[in-house]
This record gives sequence, C-alpha cells and structure tokens, in this order.
Amino acid sequence: MKVTVVGAGAVGASCAEYIAIKNFASEVVLLDIKEGYAEGKAMDLMQTASLNGFDTTITGTTGDYSLTAESDIAVITSGIPRKPGMTREELIGINAGIVKTVASNLLEHSPNVILIVVSNPMDTMTYLVHKSTNLPKNKIIGMGGALDSARFKYRLAEAMDAPISDIDGMVIGGHSDTGMVPLASQAARNSVKVSEFLTEDRLKQVVEDTKVGGATLTKLLGTSAWYAPGAAVSSLVQAIACDQKKMFPCSTLLDGEYGLSDICIGVPVLLGKNGIESIVEIALSDAEKSKMQESAVGVRNTNGLLDV
Ligand code: 2OP
Repeated sequence: MKVTVVGAGAVGASCAEYIAIKNFASEVVLLDIKEGYAEGKAMDLMQTASLNGFDTTITGTTGDYSLTAESDIAVITSGIPRKPGMTREELIGINAGIVKTVASNLLEHSPNVILIVVSNPMDTMTYLVHKSTNLPKNKIIGMGGALDSARFKYRLAEAMDAPISDIDGMVIGGHSDTGMVPLASQAARNSVKVSEFLTEDRLKQVVEDTKVGGATLTKLLGTSAWYAPGAAVSSLVQAIACDQKKMFPCSTLLDGEYGLSDICIGVPVLLGKNGIESIVEIALSDAEKSKMQESAVGVRNTNGLLDV
C-alpha cells in the first residue's frame, strides 16, 4: 500500500506520522516544493520508527512526482493555512491554483489513485478536483467532517464530563465556520441521547463551539491546527487502505442525495478499497435539513469564485 502526502507542512507531516504509526502502509512519500523540507521531515520521522515500532518507509522529495508513481492513495494538504481572523474561504485565490496543479501531477504518475483533499476551502477544492480531472467521483474525497466530528465529540465529552470513548456524534455540511451541521439530535453517550444529559442551551453552546473549533485553534496557535486534521485524514486513509467500510462524514459530489446536486459537501459515506463505497442517507430533523440547505448555499457561493 503506497500513500503520497503532498505538503510536508504541519498537517501533512502529522498525517504521514499517524499513517506510519498505524503501520498499515508499506510506503509513504512526502512531497513539498520547499527545498529539502520533505526530505528532512521524512528522515526525522524515519528516525522514530524503532521508537514507535513501525515498518512503513517514509521518503521525502522536493517536487519530484515520479517518486509518487503508482500511489494507491494521495492526500493533498498543500496550500496556505489561514491566519487568525481569516475564513477558510479567503484562501481560495492561492490554494485553487495549487490544488489543481497538484492533482494533475499526481494523476500523471498514479492514474488510478484515490485522492483525499484537505486544502481549504476544502469543499470547494474537492469540487475543483472533480471539475479539473476525470477521476470517478468515488475516488475524490474531501476531509473535513471527520475532523469536525472529532471536535464535536471533544466538546460533548467536555460538557458531560464523560470519556470521549463513550461519545458518538457526527458533523455534516460544509467545512466552514458557519456551514457545519453538528447532528445534535442524534449524538449519544453510549447509545443514550446527549439531550438526556445536557440542557438545550448547553447543547447549543457545544454546537457553536464545534463550528468554530478550527478558528478557536487558529487564534491560539497563530495558524491552522495540525494534530487533529492529520489524525482525521490518516483515519480516512486507513479505512480505504484496509477496506474497512467505515462510516465518516466526507465531502463528496452529490447527485440528488440530501436534495443536493453538483456540489461537494459533507455527508455520511462508507469508505473502503474503492474510496467512497456508498453515500448513506440518514433521516435529519427539519432543522437539520434546513441547515444543510443553508450550508449548501454557502458552499455554492464559494464554488462560484472558481474559474472552472
Ligand atoms: C481546521 O479546521 C485546517 O480546516 C482545518 O483546522
């Protein structure tokens, strides 16, 4: 199993590290455009192999896509991260060109690759990859909902003073500060609805804190987060690599599902060896349906900024 990670910045390097530690891939290629940067990160990560107990080989390259040839899965993290006060959507001017070029370079050497898009604004970048490549839609996956759901579970556990392992929760919709749809009506603590433990106001606060989870960290860190994004995308890679048929909310091209078409937005999917094995249509409350439609308007507005 060969995985390429484009972008050796904090998110890409964290993703590569988590993939290696989970030890399901034979090879990870880390690529960046900054001279020596990917090579250095790969070597540093390889020097943890005996300590962290993995056999995955991690190699780095400065822009040589021939080394990514025949990748089974490729993760696109390249592009600029946001600064405090910025929205993800403000990154489109720079990141769209980068993502389009990276996708083309990857496909030139790995025509059957499954692409996972992380670069922001993620839903629109995922849509851009559809528009600029001939890759079938099951092989183009946007990572946002897995990260947002992890933040939702964190906030739920915090609010209930519960172990996170007891918490189940999912966030669908656009990966944006205003477009996320945390499914509060369906979140549970060990199969018991969280509304049994939290007041309506406290649950509303959990939802709002979840939606700005990224912005909260960007304000604290001065740049976008990387540990949870890296862990989230490595979980998607593992589900595909190990054919787990695991359910995650992922940004995918819709064709009528959830009443939406010609848009990439976060919905529950099953991930396996074919990438998106299926889209799972779940019952939403009327409020959640309405928020999903509103979220789609926001994503379409950002898509409208693309030159495709
Ligand atoms: C985040 O929410 C980088 O969009 C990513 O942290």
